[in-house]
Amino acid sequence: MDRREFVLTCSAACLPMLGACAHLNYVNATSIGGRLAIAKTELSTTPFALVATETLDFPIYVHRDPDGSYTAVLTRCMHRGCQVEPNDGHLICPCHGSEYSNSGAVLKGPTQLPLVPFRVETDAEHIYILTAGVTIP
Ligand code: FES
Repeated sequence: MDRREFVLTCSAACLPMLGACAHLNYVNATSIGGRLAIAKTELSTTPFALVATETLDFPIYVHRDPDGSYTAVLTRCMHRGCQVEPNDGHLICPCHGSEYSNSGAVLKGPTQLPLVPFRVETDAEHIYILTAGVTIP
């Protein structure tokens, strides 16, 4: 394969992935005393967001359920540690195909363990993800 064929092949393979990444909603959180604060307006156009932190190796996936409650889980797959990705209403691991619900429950193996959950609290304007004291296996 010459350089031109390589670039064309990579472009064809990568463009769909870039499109998939473009819809990921990364938001900023303010860290306050062991919890992360996110404005509820950050989840107004999509029911989920990814929150990158300085202390965790993987972003946190925050989801707004239809009843208005929120869940938050670490996006580290419990099979072998790849980052799970939002996909059509649940989370999928791109490495070996494990699937999880938005609250981290196992929907499909090979994983046997749920995602690491975080407690979530809310007030009128914010979502608070409680990260203090959570053990990451
Ligand atoms: Fe996620 Fe294997 S690392 S399914």
